Amino acid sequence: MQPSNGQQKTTGFSTRAVHAGNVDDVMTGGVNTPIFPSSAYRVPGPLGKVVYPRYQNIPTQEAVAQKIAALEGGECALVVSSGMAAISSVFLAFCGPGDHVVLQRDLYGGTHHLAAKELPRLGIEVTWVPSQDPEDFEAALRPNTRILYLETPSNPLMKLLDLQALAAIARRHGVLSAVDNTFATPINQNPLALGIDLVIHSATKYLNGHSDLCCGAIVARRELMDRIHGVAAAYGPSLSPYDCYLLERGMKTLAVRMRQHNENGARIAAFLDAHPQVRRVYYPGLPTHPGHAIAARQMRAFGAMLSVKLDCDAAQAQTVMERLQFFKPAVSLGGVESLACFPAQTSHAPLSPEERRALGISDSLIRLSVGIEDPEDLMADLDQALSAITEHRGNDA
Ligand SMILES: Cc1ncc(COP(=O)(O)O)c(C=O)c1O
Repeated sequence: MQPSNGQQKTTGFSTRAVHAGNVDDVMTGGVNTPIFPSSAYRVPGPLGKVVYPRYQNIPTQEAVAQKIAALEGGECALVVSSGMAAISSVFLAFCGPGDHVVLQRDLYGGTHHLAAKELPRLGIEVTWVPSQDPEDFEAALRPNTRILYLETPSNPLMKLLDLQALAAIARRHGVLSAVDNTFATPINQNPLALGIDLVIHSATKYLNGHSDLCCGAIVARRELMDRIHGVAAAYGPSLSPYDCYLLERGMKTLAVRMRQHNENGARIAAFLDAHPQVRRVYYPGLPTHPGHAIAARQMRAFGAMLSVKLDCDAAQAQTVMERLQFFKPAVSLGGVESLACFPAQTSHAPLSPEERRALGISDSLIRLSVGIEDPEDLMADLDQALSAITEHRGNDA
């Protein structure tokens, strides 16, 4: 039962999402990759490969990894038990005591926490770059820098980084470049094609797409993956074959889901941008977004993540949140259903209030993960919730 991977380079994203990596069930003729639940496999003999779930070499695990690699245009991929497991595996694989990493300051709060609190404990030095200017990233590199770590669009303010320029800088200095591609997905952006070395996903989000699974993925060329694989086998963040099956099933609709996410994201962003109760919309598809030109160059579409600064205080923003009906007030993102959250209370809660202020994450900033519902229903929901602001003002007057 070998994964059929011939479709990697020549076919479209929808075809790859459906077919790449799939393992034929030769026993029954079933069209889905079988779930192989065993944790004990026959000893293969002195020259054979030992098969074991923690080594991530069960066919159910390899099948979904190949699908992700095919979508990202990478040589190989590894699926692990969370996005943070993917991120920490990359740092553990390439950094040790005395090494240095450079990260953009605008990042998912969990990654920020890992780099700020955990990496220094391992003797790894960290430098934060507060701008999006590639020259500032280059200036932060040192002879002992191992990884240039990026996230674009970033969580939650949707900052854009020029991946081609940053990949070239990293290569010139002999530093590995890594990008968290969770918000964009491989349908909208392929960092490897822009020269980036390592792509990371919280596959919990769009790749799975149904808010019922926690998992992560790394995509890279073989030589780098061998090192990551060794680290993952040692630390053990493997993903169970049952979860691999769920992820593979979710990914079959990734391209078609993203078409609707992209359309809904663009329509909701334009609607909110014109709304009198909204002060600012952070969405890379809006021509007024400071990173729009970069986004238009390196992304095929702009996704369905956006943040809004409302024209009101934190208490009124809370009322708006409570009134939303289709946008569920929940953490996480990238599922078929629309979600809303205050990053200050969720993704960026591990940061101090000062750190959040420095990033521009106010208590009333709302992040929306726009789902695949009918956009008219989502706009009506937002409109009725935002009317709370006018009513509040009316009561104050
Ligand atoms: C951009 C980004 N990267 C990584 C993660 C971490 O993923 P996980 O929760 O699957 O560990 C998240 C989680 O929200 C995220 O938004």
